[in-house]
Amino acid sequence: MNQLSGRSIAALISLMTVGCGGGDVAGEARDRQPAEAEEASRREALARPPAPVDVVIPQTNPRRGRILFITNGCVICHQVNGVGGTAAPPLDRPASQAKVDPLAFSARMWRGAAAMTALQSIELGYVIALEGQDIADIAAFAASSEERTLLTLQSVPSAMQDWFLDTPYWRSKDWSEYKSRGERIPLEPEAE
Ligand code: HEC
Repeated sequence: MNQLSGRSIAALISLMTVGCGGGDVAGEARDRQPAEAEEASRREALARPPAPVDVVIPQTNPRRGRILFITNGCVICHQVNGVGGTAAPPLDRPASQAKVDPLAFSARMWRGAAAMTALQSIELGYVIALEGQDIADIAAFAASSEERTLLTLQSVPSAMQDWFLDTPYWRSKDWSEYKSRGERIPLEPEAE
């Protein structure tokens, strides 16, 4: 079990209470003093973290990433190098961003996760399972201009090409049916 120090518990509690101010003015004046003290203790707690924990930095293999992009079915909904479905945004990383950041890539996946996993369930019947190394390799592929150019239509098996989804998901019939069953997707983009 995680051990929380007294200090970090106090910081957590202050984070929670700071966010809970009421609308009443007298109450606000009364609360200001403790809120400031809590803020100060929160800042102090954050300024004195324990020793940093070692971080695993994955070695990436963009070639493996390209293969996974096809075999895992990302290509059904996402394009790279202009190849793939257009249900979801293309994943090519702009040349201006030289470094691969698998965590940032994962965070993007997380932001899109509600819609992405819903659509995977509708279209594939399951949600694609990935290991951390897989995400790192796919992110590296999306960032490697050299490897991206190897993703050609001919390199995608024709059975897979038949699966390509060519309509933005929120305009597709399957999505309307999904929504009509009362499903609600957070962060859904405005329909155009
Ligand atoms: C069935 C369709 C589908 C499949 C298959 C799919 N995705 Fe997605 N993906 C989506 C949708 C829908 C979104 C959300 C797009 C949005 O929020 O506008 C998304 C979002 C993302 C995002 C965030 C995009 C952005 O611009 O921030 C990333 C990164 C991503 N997917 C990676 C992957 C990877 C890697 C795979 C393969 C392992 C994959 N996706 C497979 C539908 C899919």
